[in-house]
Amino acid sequence: MMVRDFQSVVGIEAREQFVDMTGHLPDAVVACVGGGSNSAGFFAGFLNDPVDIYGVEPLGRGPKLGDHAASLQYGSEGIMHGFKSLMLKDENGDPAPVYSVSSGLDYPSSGPEHAFLHDLGRVTYDVIDDNDSIDAFFELSRMEGIIPALESAHAVAYGMKLAKKMGKGSVLINLSGRGDKDMDYVIEKYGIR
Ligand SMILES: Cc1ncc(COP(=O)(O)O)c(C=O)c1O
Repeated sequence: MMVRDFQSVVGIEAREQFVDMTGHLPDAVVACVGGGSNSAGFFAGFLNDPVDIYGVEPLGRGPKLGDHAASLQYGSEGIMHGFKSLMLKDENGDPAPVYSVSSGLDYPSSGPEHAFLHDLGRVTYDVIDDNDSIDAFFELSRMEGIIPALESAHAVAYGMKLAKKMGKGSVLINLSGRGDKDMDYVIEKYGIR
């Protein structure tokens, strides 16, 4: 509740600014989900609105356990770090090893409010893999001059796919952080595109 309430400033202000700029609500909002804080706060601004809400988890290298960190997509009920939520577990029921190209998303669970919103069906949780997030990292940098954090690039990749599927309407994407911190790693591993 503390995390959600503190971070909700972002969701409340994003909603206000979007309505000021466009005169209407977005049709959909998108945020990446690691431990769940940026998305919990962002979504809080829209939970009572007729807006589709999407949480994007990291699919990493693929759906095999150990290759991703999509706990809401592939996890089951578990307790770790003092909270009960959906969790990726190893054969002993302990938190499983996880992986994502973005260090901030490789966590084997997400805050319990996400498990609740998942069960309610109020938020749609889906996944984006490393490759699509890297493509989105370059695309947003090139097209808008905004370098997204690799975590946020997962939300950007999903937002772009969603926009194509929707055809018309508006999608508001939360950029949870800037990608300056990821530049050296991305250029070393993927070169300049
Ligand atoms: C920029 C950025 N976005 C997102 C996250 C994921 O965390 P959370 O899901 O708690 O917002 C992190 C975590 O380190 C981060 O650094």
